[in-house]
Amino acid sequence: MNEDIKHLMVPEGATKYLFFGGKGGVGKTTVATATAVWFADHGYKTTIVSTDPTVSLSAMFGQEIKGDARVPIRHVSNLCGLNINPNDAKGVFLGRLNSVIGQMAGTFGSDVVSTPCMEEMATFDQFVTFLEEPDSDVIVFDTAPTGKTLRELAMPFNWAGFLQKQIQEGKKLAQMMNMGSNSFEDLERDKRRYEEALSILGNRPTAVFTLVLLPERLPIEETQSAITGLDRLGIPVQALVVNQCILPEVIEGNRFLAARAKLQARYMEEIETRFSDLKRSRLPLLDRDVSDISTLRQVGEMLYA
Ligand SMILES: Nc1ncnc2c1ncn2[C@@H]1O[C@H](COP(=O)(O)OP(=O)(O)OP(=O)(O)O)[C@@H](O)[C@H]1O
Ligand SMILES: [Mg+2]
Repeated sequence: MNEDIKHLMVPEGATKYLFFGGKGGVGKTTVATATAVWFADHGYKTTIVSTDPTVSLSAMFGQEIKGDARVPIRHVSNLCGLNINPNDAKGVFLGRLNSVIGQMAGTFGSDVVSTPCMEEMATFDQFVTFLEEPDSDVIVFDTAPTGKTLRELAMPFNWAGFLQKQIQEGKKLAQMMNMGSNSFEDLERDKRRYEEALSILGNRPTAVFTLVLLPERLPIEETQSAITGLDRLGIPVQALVVNQCILPEVIEGNRFLAARAKLQARYMEEIETRFSDLKRSRLPLLDRDVSDISTLRQVGEMLYA
């Protein structure tokens, strides 16, 4: 089973984009970083990108990872990290947006700037920049929880439509006001960039979207709705990693563990039937957390060896 998921992810010529999503706390960062370390250890030039506002990536590798440039990860050759902070991204993005719309401020400036989705738009904008400059064999994205990921991904659709409208209306207005239409070239370029990014996200086999879940009721339901939501955006989910599975050999007569394992077995069956068209991989519940490179390497072996 784990062999199948590996075949989806190994790059053959073109850069591979590996996305990991899922409900909060199910193990996205664990699986994404273990994947990145595994590919780097196997000789692939790898970048791990996080769009999580927390410092989880820095904490995992025990070094500061920021959003302005890729940082080589210590003790793992071939691996670089980047943490796009939505708050910083917002600044850069707003700057660009403002320079374009500044001339038209009275028309549509303030509405756009105050949209509650500004952070998602800005994060996506940074995200797109990395899709545009692939200089790695593998780029692994540790995304934020499902709902937010979906909004981020849904955003450029509205955003593209919004830009289209602004471009059309703006051009008319610009003509009336005797302004040049150069400002709109930037907007048009952004729109094209977002459309290209989405086509990369939905493009098999270049991009692989994997959801991480636990063998429990709510994560299964969330996984189902994430699959449906992403599908609507033209992004097929191709693989699942079922995390924190209790292996029979650790139960050793412990009734508590045996009861949990029994419950998990029922949900595993449900996962097998409900998601039978996706590649599936299992990761056992470990007796420790995953917070250092040697444990990440062990997790990578469990997932891909
Ligand atoms: N198989 C496992 N066995 C033991 N501990 C695990 C396992 N997988 C993940 N963990 C631990 O569970 C916690 C949550 O994992 P992680 O941070 O990877 O989840 P996440 O989905 O990225 O969370 P968030 O939604 O907050 O970003 C971490 O402390 C991690 O070490
Ligand atoms: Mg995380």
